[in-house]
Order: sequence, then C-alpha cells, then structure tokens
Amino acid sequence: MHPKLEISRSDFNKLTGFIKEKYGLNLADKKSLVESRLYNYVLDCGFESFSEYLNAVYCDETGREMANLINKLTTNHTYFMRETDHFKHFLREFLPYAEKHVQDHDLRIWSAGCSFGNEPYNLAMCLDEYFGFRKISWDLKILATDISFNALRAAKNGVYSEMSIENIPESWRKKYFRPVSSGLWQVSDEIRNNVGFKYHNLMEDFTFKKKFDLILCRNVMIYFDEKTKSYICRKFYDAVEEGGFFYIGHAESAPEDMPFVKVYPAIYRKIGGKSK
Ligand SMILES: C[S@@+](CC[C@H](N)C(=O)[O-])C[C@H]1O[C@@H](n2cnc3c(N)ncnc32)[C@H](O)[C@@H]1O
Repeated sequence: MHPKLEISRSDFNKLTGFIKEKYGLNLADKKSLVESRLYNYVLDCGFESFSEYLNAVYCDETGREMANLINKLTTNHTYFMRETDHFKHFLREFLPYAEKHVQDHDLRIWSAGCSFGNEPYNLAMCLDEYFGFRKISWDLKILATDISFNALRAAKNGVYSEMSIENIPESWRKKYFRPVSSGLWQVSDEIRNNVGFKYHNLMEDFTFKKKFDLILCRNVMIYFDEKTKSYICRKFYDAVEEGGFFYIGHAESAPEDMPFVKVYPAIYRKIGGKSK
C-alpha cells in the first residue's frame, strides 16, 4: 500500500468510534479491512491521504459521502435459502400460528438488515406457497430495511445471477423468477410487490405504527458489540407483538440480557408480559 494511503491510528480511531456510535458496527479490530475497502475509492477520487478523504466525508453536508462510505464498510453477504431451519420454522410453525392468531389478517414481518433482498424475497415465496389463493384475504407485505443504499437498490431490482438462485428449488425457480438476460433472473413482479424496501438504521428509533409478528435480524448483530446487541434486542422486543417471533443468525450469540425467550436454536419468542 502507498505509504500515504495507510490510515493513521488517530484517524482510524475517530472513524471507527463514529461508525460504532451511529451505525452500531464494531470495526475496531478491522484496520486492514477498512483500508482495503476504501483504498481504490480514495485513489480514484484523487485524495492525497485517508485523512483528506475522511475530512471530506465528515464535512459533506449532503450525506452522500457518508452513504458511500457505509456502502463500502458494510458486509452484505447473503444468499437464498440461508439457514433453512428458519424457513422450515416459518412454514411449519410461524405461519400456522399467525394464521390462527392474527385476527385482522394484517401480518407484520420485518427483515432487518436485508442486504440484497434474498431473505425477504425468500419469505415472500414461502408466504405465497403457504397461503396460495387465501393470500387475497391477507395483507402480507414484508418490510425489508438496511443502511446500505447500494444493497437496497439491488434488492429493489431483484435481479440475481444463475448461480445465486441455485439453492432455490426448481419448482420455485420456475414460479418465482423470470429470465431477464443471459444468466440473470428477476424475481417475479408479484413477489417483488410483496416486499417494501426502506432505509432504516437499527441504531435509530423504531417508530413503527404497528408491532411485528415476526422480526428477522440474521447475521447483522454479529458486527455489533455486546452493549449494542443488548440495546437493539430490547428495541426489537418492544416492537414485537406478544407471542411473536424473532430470528437471529445461527452463528450469532444473543446478548446476556436477551428479553426474548429462546424456543429453538436462533429462534426466540416474546412470551410473558410487555417488559422483562
Ligand atoms: C451479512 S448481511 C445479512 C443479510 C441477511 N439478513 C442474511 O442473513 O443473509 C448484514 C446486513 O446488515 C446491514 N446492517 C449493518 N448495520 C446495520 C444497521 N445499523 N442498521 C440496519 N442494517 C444494518 C448491512 O448493511 C448488511 O446488508
């Protein structure tokens, strides 16, 4: 790396402190990752040093440089049918429960940290599979949020490579995807219309009008420290209906003061009162 393009310890500490406070991401041990993700951009834009670049980020009142920085610093790895146990639970336990208990037929599902949209689209396919023609009497729109505008833009398009839809069962590929150009497939309009993508930062207030029956926050809190996980899980808890469910990634650990009750690996439930 060019000697000038090494981020100084003080610039790095300031940056990681800022990112952690504003977005929850703990990058304190990831100096070379941060450098390598920003390196080309800093060079391509003609900045003389990381310091100069970071000043431009902090001073940019439009927020565009910050959004670009977040696009680069977030890890958006995702794929269809990820952690299939969650989809099995969704189809076999969550949906039968919801069908019985959600009296107003307004089912509220939130994919928090949805990245390129594979997770919420996968859920929408399950909803279609489960409800079939009964879908008409339900409001089944899934909320899908992220802080990466880049990921959200790709998610809204819903176009995936042949390789990335490999895990999808053949019958679903036929039903829920259409070829758009060589080797690229787009999620069908019906499934795309079932998901609403929005920018939302988990560190900010949750101001949703209605509570959720299910929240998924899988492979997101893995980048947060214990205190941040605890803070966010408490907010998720308040945002879930009594009896509702909460899925986290199987490789993630819940905070010590997790308010939800664990019912299966990586599956939690809000049982027993409003506040614990
Ligand atoms: C590894 S992806 C997980 C995608 C999907 N949930 C899955 O399990 O396949 C993590 C996502 O969390 C998002 N993320 C990180 N911090 C966030 C925050 N503070 N608020 C909302 N999303 C965040 C990232 O932008 C990234 O797209």
